[in-house]
This record gives sequence, structure tokens and C-alpha cells, in this order.
Amino acid sequence: MTDRYAVIGSPVSHSKSPLIHAEFARQTGQDIEYGRLLAPLEGFQAAVEEFRLAGGKGLNVTLPFKLEAYQLANQRSPRAGDAEAVNVLSFRKESIEGDNTDGIGLVRDIEANLGFSIAGKRVLLLGAGGAAQGVVGPLLATQPALLAVGNRTTEKAQRLVARFADSGRLSGAAVQAGSFHSYTGARFDLVVNATSASLKDTAPDIPMGLFAAESMAYDMMYGQGLTPFLRLAQQQGAGRLADGLGMLVEQAAESFLIWRGIRPDTRPVIQQLQSL
Ligand code: ATR
Repeated sequence: MTDRYAVIGSPVSHSKSPLIHAEFARQTGQDIEYGRLLAPLEGFQAAVEEFRLAGGKGLNVTLPFKLEAYQLANQRSPRAGDAEAVNVLSFRKESIEGDNTDGIGLVRDIEANLGFSIAGKRVLLLGAGGAAQGVVGPLLATQPALLAVGNRTTEKAQRLVARFADSGRLSGAAVQAGSFHSYTGARFDLVVNATSASLKDTAPDIPMGLFAAESMAYDMMYGQGLTPFLRLAQQQGAGRLADGLGMLVEQAAESFLIWRGIRPDTRPVIQQLQSL
């Protein structure tokens, strides 16, 4: 019987995950079916249970359910624990296993696809919500010289950084928290936008001077053309610009690996999506 998977979220009609996983399955010769599951805002758990009891093997979880998925999982990977959020559920017998592949997806896109090594670099992460929280652990694991978190609400950045103080020490990275403007006068090699400002078609209010000519601006969001953050970064002199399409494909590849034990080749899929 064909193994069934889906992406669950609200909304979910725009999701590119079915296309990505269909491509992975074709490429690796795996016999799977991958659909979309729209869950009511109050009905996430019931929708997951229905899918699981009908024989579904796994789900990708997108907004706004990543925290609920974390709570629902009865086994969690260390990276899901760090992120306090789950974007991959795997159903095996009675167990509901939760993992988080967002952070590794970001790091693989930056390092493997874009050829930018983070080790020893100065990194600024903008935002301190769910999206930022999911990527702090994997960013620290790459051993940057500095991981600074900047957020509109400073206390939230401070709380996030406090949770990762130990991993910062272990990785040798300095960790720092502040408002966007507390970084006035500082320069970064890599600035990652993990705020949800793009959803409102705006960019976070960052100070001038964060970017050098060889710095990379990375927006975890993606869309047609440059996102507002990437436009702003370009105006401020960032030499390299990337949106989150590669991250989306990489987190999917890592999910596919968890479920099927095989890592698909992401490059042709990223190229295909870029050309749409
Ligand atoms: P997500 O899971 O997408 O991260 P979230 O947990 O609601 O969503 O967090 C949204 C993040 O984007 C927060 O860091 C938020 O800043 P605050 O903590 O100050 O609310 C940030 N954010 C949202 N809109 C923003 C804007 N217009 N400018 C700057 N930051 C913004």
C-alpha cells in the first residue's frame, strides 16, 4: 500500500510542500502520496488523530500549529526540544515522534547551497518568535564567532538568548540580545530575518550600517521578487541576498530523510521552484 503523508496547517492551500515531496519521491523512486490537510484552528489534534488512525505515516506541520505539534508528540528529538516547536511528525505504532528540521534547513541552504560558511562569522538574527526560536540551536552548532539576536521587543530577545547560553558556551560563540537599534554601529557577515514583518509587507526597522559589501542578507520568508527586508538590505549595501525558498526545500528534504531513510537531491527542486 502507498504510504501517505501531508502538510497540515491553516491556511495550507498555498503550500509548495506537496510539489516538493512529489519531486523527491519521483527522484528517489519512493512510492508515497503527499497531500494538503487544512485543520480548523481549534481542531489540530483531532485532524492529526484522524489522519494517523487512517494509516497516515507522517505530517509536516506549518503555521500556526508548530507549538501544538510539539505538545502532541510523545517523543521529541533534541532539536525539537531546543526549538520548542515541531514541523515533522512521524507515526510509528503507538508513538508520535516530533522533530524540527527548520533550523537545519536554514543552515544547509546557507552553507551547502549558497556556499557561505558560518563558522567564525558574526551573525545577527532578527526576531525572537517561533521562527527565530527554531533556528538558534542549529545556527550555534555551526560555531559562529557571535550570534546576536535583535528584536522589536528587547525582553523577548533576552529570554531567547538566555535559553541558549549553555549551547553558546559549548559552541564557543558569544551570544547577545538587544533591540534592533542596539546594534547601531555594528557590522555583521550574515543577517537573518526571522520576523514576521514580511507578512505585513514591511521590513524590520533596522539601523543603517549593519552590512558590509560581502555580507549576506537572508530572509526566511520568500515571495515573488525581493521581500521588503531584502530590498532594504540591498539599499543598505548587502552584497548577497537570499530568500527562504532554499530553506523550505531543505527542511522538506530532511523530513523526507526521517520518513524514508533517503536524502533527495535538493538542487533541481530549488531550481524548478525558482523558475515558476
Ligand atoms: P513567528 O512564529 O512567525 O516567529 P511570532 O512568534 O508571532 O511568529 O513572532 C513574530 C516575530 O516577528 C517577533 O519577533 C515579532 O516582534 P515582537 O516580539 O516585538 O512582537 C516580529 N515582528 C512582527 N512584526 C514585526 C514588524 N513589523 N517589525 C519588526 N518585527 C516584527
